[in-house]
Amino acid sequence: MRHFKLLLGLVIVLLYGGCQSDSRIKVIKMGHAQVTAHPVHNAMVYLAERLEEKSKGRIKVKVYPNQQLGTERELLELLQIGSLGMTKVSAASLEAFSPEISVLGLPFLFRDDQHIDRVLNGEIGTELLLSSEKFWLRGLCFYDAGKRSFYSKTKPIETPADLTGLKIRVQESKMAINMIRGMGGSPTPVAYGELYTALQQGIVDAAENNPPSFYNSRHYEVCKFYSIDEHTAIPDVVLVSTVVWDDLTAEEQQWLQEAADESAVYQAKLWKESVEESMREVEKAGVQISYPSKEPFLNQVQSVYDQVKKEQPQLAGLIERIQNTR
Ligand code: GCU
Repeated sequence: MRHFKLLLGLVIVLLYGGCQSDSRIKVIKMGHAQVTAHPVHNAMVYLAERLEEKSKGRIKVKVYPNQQLGTERELLELLQIGSLGMTKVSAASLEAFSPEISVLGLPFLFRDDQHIDRVLNGEIGTELLLSSEKFWLRGLCFYDAGKRSFYSKTKPIETPADLTGLKIRVQESKMAINMIRGMGGSPTPVAYGELYTALQQGIVDAAENNPPSFYNSRHYEVCKFYSIDEHTAIPDVVLVSTVVWDDLTAEEQQWLQEAADESAVYQAKLWKESVEESMREVEKAGVQISYPSKEPFLNQVQSVYDQVKKEQPQLAGLIERIQNTR
């Protein structure tokens, strides 16, 4: 079924391209992997409304949720060739396309929410959004994706030792693979849309994500232990294909940027509400929530930092700048 949907999605984008236009109206297609109840979907719909209003109906954004047009990696590839206009992915999925942005996947990188805000909404954030432009992917804004914590089918993850012998689903990201290895688990990359079945069938024993994604994906139906260790705070990124961007007039580019920025403000508000609701709902559904000490997890991840600095020494300065942001 998923393959059929994917094929159908690809036929749609290949037939019509990333941006259709007659002489008056431009339609930009935007694909993403989340369900429609998720706050990021509603923020994208808001972006579309704001852009339609600013352009007086001349630019429309049509949002395709649920991995209908492909996994996050596939969506980025479609953007690169201009077959799809826009997407929203996790910064972890951008790792293969923008080495700079991969640093946001480092475990325990940020001290607190204010630190995240100063980095993402400051000079470094702007640099990171534009770092993938040379690969035909222009970042427009970040969306809050909270903090990621472990959930498992069999037992709470109270210390890194609890990960031993468990197959942990990770995003398609080398950083995530190294982090789970560092903590002692067995990392298994699985695309987000296939994770419910992978958990159900025992292909993986556990996964990790923020509360709205744990709840809206219904993974809590299978995983009854949620351990809030908050090992990473990887944001989402809204991107436009440079093929589509370059085809817009300067005025249209400004409208799109403004609509994206306004949607980020709206998303931040939706996000806070959704985190609270999600925690309440999973608890109601019988999930056992625990708050393990972060220290033992933090002590296991120095190897991830060492590996990045060894393999990509050019990122050491950026990591330091992020750590020194006050
Ligand atoms: C988060 C993120 C998604 C991503 C997902 C994942 O929910 O917002 O973009 O797909 O994590 O774990 O794959």
